[in-house]
Amino acid sequence: MALDKAQIEQELAKALSAISQAADLDALKQIKIDFVGDKSPLAKANQALGSLEATQRAEFGKLIGQARASVNSAFELKSNDLSDKRDLVALQTEKVDVSLPVRRVLKGGLHPLTILTNEIADLFIGIGYNIAEGPELESEWLNFDALNIPADHPARTMQDTFFIEPIEAKLVLRTHTSPVQIRTMLNQKPPIYVICPGKTYRADELDATHTPVFHQVEGLVIDENITMADLKGTLDYFAKSIFGKNVQTRLRPSFFPFTEPSAEVDIFFNGRWIEWGGCGMVNEKVLIACGVDTKKYSGFAFGMGLERTLMVKHGITDMHDIVEGDVRFTQSFGVGIK
Ligand code: PHE
Repeated sequence: MALDKAQIEQELAKALSAISQAADLDALKQIKIDFVGDKSPLAKANQALGSLEATQRAEFGKLIGQARASVNSAFELKSNDLSDKRDLVALQTEKVDVSLPVRRVLKGGLHPLTILTNEIADLFIGIGYNIAEGPELESEWLNFDALNIPADHPARTMQDTFFIEPIEAKLVLRTHTSPVQIRTMLNQKPPIYVICPGKTYRADELDATHTPVFHQVEGLVIDENITMADLKGTLDYFAKSIFGKNVQTRLRPSFFPFTEPSAEVDIFFNGRWIEWGGCGMVNEKVLIACGVDTKKYSGFAFGMGLERTLMVKHGITDMHDIVEGDVRFTQSFGVGIK
């Protein structure tokens, strides 16, 4: 390739004019290929230097070198200038109006019963209890016999208990959480401090105060020197944590086959006494059936309905509200608006 000064100057002028006219970064990209890159006329002229004689090579080398340097610096300046302009446009057009109202997306949330269950779990874990669990499909022996509920006890009849076929399998849907007491005592040595929240079943029609599927929370303590005073103190703590510090509790004599003595626990809340749950000292027969050394240990147990607790606490008058899952009910607990 023959080299010609005028031609080099012309190529330089073409390159500078193309660069100065580039409208945007895309156009500049093509200009880089055409006028700056390895295939550009000036790059080719540079490659052709090798075929020149030494004197000519020095002269043209300088000329081409200067031309390429000024193309490069013009390109650099233009590129910076176009990038700045693009950034400015982006900053102006992509700005966010932080004063616009947000679109609320309802995330769903926990059912009030679940919230209550978690609250109860927390307040007992806080005083050193563990959470115990058991199956909802329970053996008749654990649900009744081990709890000293004899075969002719009314709770066992078809009216109250969901028996599971085949009847010979002796399985029931647990009618209370008390079988978890037995499971716990059979599986771990005292001292035992547990609560067991869970689902329970009784053959009732759904109405304003009953539901065939409901929830209880059971408490069980087995340790040395446990007395009814410990039971009363624990129920006081429980009641005050749930219903507020002004609530009072009272024990009323009652009967459960698995506790002796037994009591109903009432709370004084919103100006009246309300029955809350059952409790008592764990019957010695039950302790013996579970292999607990009754010379060394004694214990107490209590059990309450969670639906009932929720209804009393929040003045809910119809069980349907709790079980039907209408979102307007749960939202009134602040659920799903987070
Ligand atoms: N399991 C009893 C019930 O369902 C409640 C209870 C639990 C009573 C523990 C005493 C002790 O009615």
